Amino acid sequence: MTYHPHAGRYQQMEYRRSGRSGLKLPAISLGLWHNFGDNTRVDNSRELLRHAFDRGITHFDLANNYGPPPGSAEENFGRILREDFRPYRDELVISTKAGYTMWDGPYGDWGSRKYLISSLDQSLKRMGLEYVDIFYHHRPDPDTPLEETMRALDQVVRQGKALYAAISNYPADRAAEAIAILRDLGTPCLIHQPRYSMFERGPENGLLETLGDNGVGCIAFSPLAGGVLTDRYLQGIPEDSRVASGSKFLREDQLTDEKMEKVRRLNEIAQQRGQKLAQMALAWTLRDARVTSVLIGASKTAQIDDAVEMLANRHFTIAELSAIEGALL
Ligand SMILES: NC(=O)c1ccc[n+]([C@@H]2O[C@H](COP(=O)([O-])OP(=O)(O)OC[C@H]3O[C@@H](n4cnc5c(N)ncnc54)[C@H](OP(=O)(O)O)[C@@H]3O)[C@@H](O)[C@H]2O)c1
Repeated sequence: MTYHPHAGRYQQMEYRRSGRSGLKLPAISLGLWHNFGDNTRVDNSRELLRHAFDRGITHFDLANNYGPPPGSAEENFGRILREDFRPYRDELVISTKAGYTMWDGPYGDWGSRKYLISSLDQSLKRMGLEYVDIFYHHRPDPDTPLEETMRALDQVVRQGKALYAAISNYPADRAAEAIAILRDLGTPCLIHQPRYSMFERGPENGLLETLGDNGVGCIAFSPLAGGVLTDRYLQGIPEDSRVASGSKFLREDQLTDEKMEKVRRLNEIAQQRGQKLAQMALAWTLRDARVTSVLIGASKTAQIDDAVEMLANRHFTIAELSAIEGALL
């Protein structure tokens, strides 16, 4: 059936400027790491994308290796884009990345110019796009000169294959170097994508400061810690959950008693605020003005609704913030 997006979609969402760039991103973005590969039903993937866009989520985040198998999330997304979203391409911000293992041999991994440029060409083909809005280097490469990697990002922007350059998983000092190189090349770094949540506080140790000082945005991935910072695992492991799916990135042994006790305490604070834990976790990650967007995953449309409805209750008192810190001890 032809897709007609909800007419009121832009009234429900807040759009935040990415650093000092001209680009605004939705406060909530949708990532396609899980639930878009060949191991899932394409009608559910389609429903998630339609629902997200209907609720004002204009940014979809991919990477060359999302699947499984690697590449299949881009292929499936490309198909849905062609069938449903073609008239809306200019209303969307689509990102992809290269940096993790993608193909055999020495040219399908890390940060060489050879890898980045050929990988983006492959991604564009899989998605049926002429350009992506944001192209990321997915992780720092300890062995390739940073100048080479950043020059590759600069080149794809100059070629029109990406509109903006970005980095992900870079620690503060490497991020500062990358940002300086890109600035000198005349292609400012748009945004950094680190892991950040109530459980993952790394960006508070200098990264957010570096990004703020340099006018670079921040999009926080896994703000729900893959689903742990929700009520999903409070009564055991649901059959349709990421843990039950056998994900190597979220295993049952990571749900320790100590962690689940913290989750229970946080859940109580969320209830006192009149919201779900998932909503409090997202609001908490967005509380810092340097965080442009929270990048969620979803397996069900109701999870997207939870995220968007969080925006109505997203401010914290000092007492609530210190109760959260206490619950995390
Ligand atoms: N740059 C990088 O290196 C990197 C790494 C990882 C991720 N990412 C990006 O970040 C995106 C999000 O990562 P993520 O999926 O780990 O994020 P997340 O938002 O922390 O976790 C998403 C999962 O939480 C559960 N969930 C979501 N909303 C919920 C709700 N309201 N109530 C209960 N459970 C809820 C769902 O799990 P169930 O499936 O169990 O329902 C969902 O799949 C990825 O798609 C990708 O774009 C980037």
